[in-house]
Amino acid sequence: MLELATEGIVTILQHPLWPELLPYMLPQQKGDDGKTRLEVLAMPDALTRMAVLLEVKCPACGLPMHPIRARAEAQRGEHLAQNLYYAAACSLRDDVACSRSAAAHDEYLRVVDAVRGKKLDDEFSSASAEHYTPRWIIELAREVMGGIDCDPATCLEAQEWIKAKVFYTLKTNGLLPRWFGRIWINPPGDKQSKLAKAFWKHLWSQPDTINEFHWLAFNISQLRVLQPEVENCWIAVPNQRIRFSGTSPTRDNAIIYYGPNSDKFIRAWERHGAVWEPTIR
Ligand SMILES: C[S@@+](CC[C@H](N)C(=O)[O-])C[C@H]1O[C@@H](n2cnc3c(N)ncnc32)[C@H](O)[C@@H]1O
Ligand SMILES: [Zn+2]
Repeated sequence: MLELATEGIVTILQHPLWPELLPYMLPQQKGDDGKTRLEVLAMPDALTRMAVLLEVKCPACGLPMHPIRARAEAQRGEHLAQNLYYAAACSLRDDVACSRSAAAHDEYLRVVDAVRGKKLDDEFSSASAEHYTPRWIIELAREVMGGIDCDPATCLEAQEWIKAKVFYTLKTNGLLPRWFGRIWINPPGDKQSKLAKAFWKHLWSQPDTINEFHWLAFNISQLRVLQPEVENCWIAVPNQRIRFSGTSPTRDNAIIYYGPNSDKFIRAWERHGAVWEPTIR
């Protein structure tokens, strides 16, 4: 069995699914238990299902194993997508102690390096997921909708001024629950806009509980990936690039609105830029 390990090891880095997963791999971090590990950010459902089935050979014993694993609590419950992590070696054979082997450690370091070295495009990088909407824009959105019930992609810091009644963060994963009422959303950026698309899809899947929404598009080219639904929306393009707190994008932004208060949206935004009406109504 052990000699299998010397045969061409299939590492996750060569797996066809790896490029899909990479945008969701978080840099190595210390967990509550003091152990460092690679966590996997919540992915769209279809990708999650494929990721947990992904198989490579254990670098120590050569047996097939699943390197993207769900924590035990997730295996029982629903929140599979937000409880994934990467493991370099198989967990089965305690007698062989694969996870404590040098081969597993080397493989782990290679993957850590690959994740650390992933090309961060300054527009879409996960680093730039931390760009917060300035207060004046939030106040305009509040003016248009009369309030903000839900911010499904946010953090505690931004909630100091967004003050949504309900909000979700990286930890609680806004892609899983149902959203209600008046939505403010400035989705996290990632290289191929996969996260933005997942949030967009989730947004349009809940017409029964969502009354209206504002969506801040990080750059105008995002409008392309938001088709076709975006054609039903009002779009404001500010005269000046928005200065976010945190990283600011290098391109022009757009504010997308959908809902019954388009007259208020026009009034709010014509002072600051151009407003386009929906091409489909
Ligand atoms: C571009 S920021 C916008 C923050 C805030 N909503 C605003 O408008 O300023 C996107 C936020 O979404 C968070 N995020 C990333 N993935 C998420 C997920 N799956 N569920 C909820 N929030 C997420 C990021 O950590 C980041 O704080
Ligand atoms: Zn093994």
